[in-house]
Amino acid sequence: MRMRHKHRKSSALCCSAGSRWSLSAVVWSLVGCILIIHFYSLVHHQEEGEAQVRLSHFPLTKELEEIEEENFQIQPRGKRSPRAAKRRGGKRPSLIDEFLDDSSQIRLLFFPDHKTAIGPTKAAANESGYFYPGRLWLDTEGNPIQAHGGGIMYDQRTETYYWYGENKEGLTYQAHKKGAARVDIIGVNCYSSKDLWSWYNEGIVLLGEESNVTHDLHKSNVLERPKVIYNDQTDKYVMWMHIDDENYTKASVGVAISDSATGPFEYLYSKRPHGFDSRDMSIFKDDDGKAYLIYSSEDNSELHISLLTNDYLDVTRMMRRILVGQHREAPAIFKHQGTYYMITSGCTGWAPNEALAHAAESIMGPWETMGNPCIGGNKIFRATTFFSQSTFVVPLRGMPDSFIFMADRWNPAELRDSRYVWLPLTVGGAADEPLEYNFGFPLWSRVSIYWHKRWKLPDGWQRA
Ligand code: DGJ
Repeated sequence: MRMRHKHRKSSALCCSAGSRWSLSAVVWSLVGCILIIHFYSLVHHQEEGEAQVRLSHFPLTKELEEIEEENFQIQPRGKRSPRAAKRRGGKRPSLIDEFLDDSSQIRLLFFPDHKTAIGPTKAAANESGYFYPGRLWLDTEGNPIQAHGGGIMYDQRTETYYWYGENKEGLTYQAHKKGAARVDIIGVNCYSSKDLWSWYNEGIVLLGEESNVTHDLHKSNVLERPKVIYNDQTDKYVMWMHIDDENYTKASVGVAISDSATGPFEYLYSKRPHGFDSRDMSIFKDDDGKAYLIYSSEDNSELHISLLTNDYLDVTRMMRRILVGQHREAPAIFKHQGTYYMITSGCTGWAPNEALAHAAESIMGPWETMGNPCIGGNKIFRATTFFSQSTFVVPLRGMPDSFIFMADRWNPAELRDSRYVWLPLTVGGAADEPLEYNFGFPLWSRVSIYWHKRWKLPDGWQRA
């Protein structure tokens, strides 16, 4: 032991000139590194400052600056829902348990009744255009909008937005004692709008099947998360959707096609893409006309992303596994200044959970996970994506830094009464949480989804 110590000492001494050199080299390298880091953070802060300055000229930010703090008053213990407590084995139910329980006394906070409904037939002139996330939303005829798990396509030819989503206007029941709450397939609804607030019901554009039990769209099956894109080469509108059986074991995607945005869509087929199980999914059309399918696979443990064929009717062999082992679903992709972003949820059935934002330079990955994009509300709001689940992110024409985050506030006790949570989403400024692979240096701009009880797009935003 002593010998070894001695030896180390002497060897250190015998290279003393060299070690002084290497010591000063180390010190200077450290100083260099510190200077580079300092310079980097200065530039970064400057950029951030610029982004804020730029953003403050931006009409939407006027609204965003008023980030709301929402505090739900939790009922005293005695008033807690007995059913929610029972479900928790007598333990104190959480706010999420209360949220899921239709007999809970605080349910109206999450699912306000018809009296507070919004929409063109209901709103006073000074309320027109205001989004109230979670309230009943009525179409131009005064009926609640039925377009769950939906997505929006902007049609350049008609300069119109089309909202496609699940029509869940049926009875909620459980096919099996332990099965998920469900509604029979009715079809895919389509609504049209020029301003994203006032929606005209275009009807059911893909109809469920009543009698043929072998048909994918037979009412006893599952049709979720329909999304539509337009193919410039074939001049067709193509719809992709999640197709399943009542036990979610078929785990496939379905494809339908139409000559018109408002249908009718002809159902073509379903498949397991690349032979893999596929549940929550979405499609994304890039600026270069290429389109992609993204789906949760391997029992929701990872996502797969695949290039579609030129006609958008099938997947190509080009597929990448992303976010492996992260157990994410409900993907919503968008692009900002050449970078791809995605919001996903965790996998907790109809119950809400925390959203995550992800970013990538190439849509095929690698994708990096950033933090929770939700801002405002209170802690439980942010931890539950404002009691909702992502479905789509809508780019706003004329407002390149702003998007609308579309989410579903599922009501598993009465799925037809699930609500829409639409909130402003911006990209910009510094990421505020350390990222996964870059030692805390933010490579991507922060994605922020702001809670607002009430908000509106700036007047004339379409012309901005
Ligand atoms: C979560 C998914 O995101 C929904 O689309 C739906 O499939 C539910 N699970 C069913 O429990």
